Amino acid sequence: MMRCVLVTGGAGFIGSCFVRRLLDEPGDRTVVNLDALTYAGNLANLASVAQDPRYRFVKGDITDRALVASLFEQYSFDKVVNFAAESHVDRSIREPEIFLRTNVLGTQCLLDCARDAWMIGRDSDGYPRYREGVRFVQISTDEVYGALGATGLFTEDTPLSPNSPYSVSKASADMLARAYYTTFRLPVCVTRCSNNYGPFQFPEKLIPLMIGNALEDKPLPVYGDGMQVRDWIHVDDHCSAVQAVIERGRPGEVYNIGGSSEKANLEIVRTILDALGKPETLIRHVKDRLGHDRRYAIDNAKITGELGWTPRYTFDQGMSETIAWYLVNKDWLDGVRSGAYLSYYSEYYGDRT
Ligand code: NAD
Ligand code: DAU
Repeated sequence: MMRCVLVTGGAGFIGSCFVRRLLDEPGDRTVVNLDALTYAGNLANLASVAQDPRYRFVKGDITDRALVASLFEQYSFDKVVNFAAESHVDRSIREPEIFLRTNVLGTQCLLDCARDAWMIGRDSDGYPRYREGVRFVQISTDEVYGALGATGLFTEDTPLSPNSPYSVSKASADMLARAYYTTFRLPVCVTRCSNNYGPFQFPEKLIPLMIGNALEDKPLPVYGDGMQVRDWIHVDDHCSAVQAVIERGRPGEVYNIGGSSEKANLEIVRTILDALGKPETLIRHVKDRLGHDRRYAIDNAKITGELGWTPRYTFDQGMSETIAWYLVNKDWLDGVRSGAYLSYYSEYYGDRT
């Protein structure tokens, strides 16, 4: 049962999909979305639920302890799902500091506030005891494992070996969540998902960037030889897996999530060009990303076996629906690429606050 859920980062790509999913289901659950609306947060992603009386939006930062504590006082959350993060590897190479602040200190702030609000006493050894049914889900990433060679898969037991400032910040948050389970017995689960694709993805990421450029006949910048491999999953499948973890995951456990769809970047780019009827001459090989991880691939046997989760989309179906979505929703893509979406908050909420 999820009665009152705090979703952080719910205005981003994956968080907004999760919020829409929760509110698609009948019932009187309350969904509170705490999002700082950084460049990656876009309230247009939530236009379909903005008027739902079960939905509340709070503009704020997960590192703001007074705000987060006040939300725990105001609402009787039984679940917290922490999607909020700086999420783009290339940005972390240019400006690591904000990654550490949001991804590490923000997670610590949420864990502290959840622990303090949910604690109902201590056992004889001094460990906190918590309200029945509460759960904290930390959304981590497969990038915490580092890079694979040509073969093999990441399991939950693969040692962490993150390579970018982004993945180090995510690994730190992931380990903090683990520590709050071990030290405070806070009922935490961690999910480590592979690369997501789907509607509403910010067009700095490979797939929407390439779709946007191809539509405008601009060059498609492929890093290095383009033979780096990612394991793609539709965002809605990621969100259904997170729901399975909230409902049935065992506290203290890590769950890998992946769609078993390994593709080289060049293959993705060619699929997009082909679907849009654009020539391969648009492909430009550019300087490689520093420290670029060569290959990621997920073993999802634990979540499929233990929680009975399976992805709904095949890669071909998910990609063709996704490309079609960006064509139909060209206004959304144009709004983000032009920066017009940045005024959405003041236009929408300006006379409400
Ligand atoms: P995103 O960049 O699209 O969205 C991030 C959201 O977090 C934005 O709405 C932003 O405004 C918000 N945010 C950032 N800093 C904040 C802060 N200090 N306080 C409150 N809100 C803040 O990211 P995404 O792709 O949707 O990823 C969501 C989560 O999933 C992240 O934790 C990411 O590490 C993880 N993840 C992403 C992928 C992927 O392929 N995109 C895969 C695995 C895991
Ligand atoms: O694996 C999960 C991770 O996937 C998440 O934790 C991250 O938040 C998410 O951003 C994503 O990280 P990647 O670095 O894999 O995604 P990105 O879309 O930035 O790049 C995908 C691949 O495409 C990667 O090998 C780099 C390459 N690339 C990317 C861009 C933006 C290019 O070749 N050209 C580009 O312009």
